[in-house]
Amino acid sequence: MASPFLLPAVLALAFAQALAYDPTPLQDFCVADLKSNIFINGYPCKNPKTVTVEDFSFSGLNIPGNTKNKFGFNVTIANVMTLPGLNTLGVSIARIDYAPHGVVPPHTHPRGTEFLTVIEGTLIAGFVTSNPNNTLYQQILHPGDVTVFPIGMIHFQLNIGKGPAVAIVGLNSQNPGFIFIGDAVFGSKPPIPVQVLEKSFQVGPNVIQELLAQFK
Ligand SMILES: *[C@@H]1O[C@H](CO)[C@@H](O)[C@H](O)[C@H]1NC(C)=O
Ligand SMILES: *[C@@H]1O[C@H](CO)[C@@H](O)[C@H](O)[C@H]1NC(C)=O
Repeated sequence: MASPFLLPAVLALAFAQALAYDPTPLQDFCVADLKSNIFINGYPCKNPKTVTVEDFSFSGLNIPGNTKNKFGFNVTIANVMTLPGLNTLGVSIARIDYAPHGVVPPHTHPRGTEFLTVIEGTLIAGFVTSNPNNTLYQQILHPGDVTVFPIGMIHFQLNIGKGPAVAIVGLNSQNPGFIFIGDAVFGSKPPIPVQVLEKSFQVGPNVIQELLAQFK
């Protein structure tokens, strides 16, 4: 018979994993030494004697990012690279600004689930599940509405309001990563062979050349 302690232990483990996707810390903090030339998973810790309160802070999430780019969005992110105290803590936060009609094109975060809260404006937000269903879960979000994009799922947002929109997102990784589908598939360096893209998307070379030109 299973030990009566087994179930609570398994549940506790499951909850611990739900709190953070990144590995759990083994000490109070491990402020990233961003200049270290030791390559490990994450960053080595700065000498705790040189750690200051500035290592645990980031400013500027009140400042709109510049959305004058072809997609009309801007991400201001406090991750381990911009807030070194996040190293080993498994969280990050970002502000997203959307111009009117701005889109955050389909992308995924390979290392984090995303929690999105709309502060201003109106967004359509959605994600698509994996094969074979590829189900789209899409909704309209207003200020105060929250949605979640499960780790690894391809997701997007579009500003459908008349003015700018703003969202704050939290992610359960110190470095969730971004894979924009268009950039990865049509903008890789060097490019994926045209024959691969033609056969994969079942279109001719002209369509592929046009797509490649968009993501140079
Ligand atoms: C985002 O906004 C910042 C601050 O205005 C700007 O420096 C940066 O170039 C913008 N990024 C993009 C991709 O437009
Ligand atoms: C995927 O689609 C199949 C067939 O419609 C269905 O049986 C299954 O429950 C779906 N899976 C999920 C996770 O929605």
